[in-house]
Amino acid sequence: MNCIVNLDSVTKTYRIGDIAVEALRGVSLRINQGEFVAIMGASGSGKSTLMNIIGCLDTPSSGQYTLLSREVGAMNRRDLARIRNRCIGFVFQNFNLIRRTTALENVELPVYYQRNRKKEHARERARMALEKVGLADRVHHVPNQLSGGQQQRVAIARALVNEPPLLLADEPTGALDSVTSIEIMALFQQLNRQGKTVILVTHEQDIAQYAGRLIRMLDGVVVADERIISPRVAEAAGAEAPIQTTGEN
Ligand SMILES: Nc1ncnc2c1ncn2[C@@H]1O[C@H](COP(=O)(O)OP(=O)(O)OP(=O)(O)O)[C@@H](O)[C@H]1O
Ligand SMILES: [Mg+2]
Repeated sequence: MNCIVNLDSVTKTYRIGDIAVEALRGVSLRINQGEFVAIMGASGSGKSTLMNIIGCLDTPSSGQYTLLSREVGAMNRRDLARIRNRCIGFVFQNFNLIRRTTALENVELPVYYQRNRKKEHARERARMALEKVGLADRVHHVPNQLSGGQQQRVAIARALVNEPPLLLADEPTGALDSVTSIEIMALFQQLNRQGKTVILVTHEQDIAQYAGRLIRMLDGVVVADERIISPRVAEAAGAEAPIQTTGEN
């Protein structure tokens, strides 16, 4: 199995004036390519801090983080930005779409931050990503003309457009009702079957059961890490027929 994320004794301490907050107090974790991992834990337990480090948005205070065999702690800001853009797609609780900007333009945006990529194909690639999330008929809608679930699909299309191997989602269903949440989980399961490694944070035990592995955090450490023997299978209501996959990336 190819290891994609490897954390070794990672700590993160935030300092505000004289006060130090130890958000991560020694996290060691290996995640293999093709896994679907859910992270749970009380508010303040360090989940988002961990996701920010895995996503190269922040670096550890101590310990080692290796992403796709590259030591992240040693990288400068430019290298961090590059590996982030190439290797990781982010999905957030509140979608983080740009208002008054169409779905297509929102999804195109990350292509323009990509070096050495053919920008002329941006539109076509954005369209394909939107198709993949079932929004081919909504490409010219702006966010406030879309439902919450559709907005999250746009955000997932945006996360996919540069074809990163790793998807990180911090509470992706936190702003959605339960039916829509399951549709979004169906989409993550589909992407995972197609080869994406998915790591998501959730407060809901029900949502975590769609993943294949559940990690629990408490006060900045991992307190449980177990395989989910038979994950729930999410079926997207009214969705297009499931795409046949070969298991290739
Ligand atoms: N930028 C920051 N500066 C200072 N302290 C921070 C910062 N970000 C997080 N913290 C602190 O680090 C700890 C972990 O925060 P984190 O956001 O990782 O928790 P979380 O598990 O994601 O919580 P939630 O479920 O509420 O999102 C908290 O005590 C928080 O106050
Ligand atoms: Mg958080």
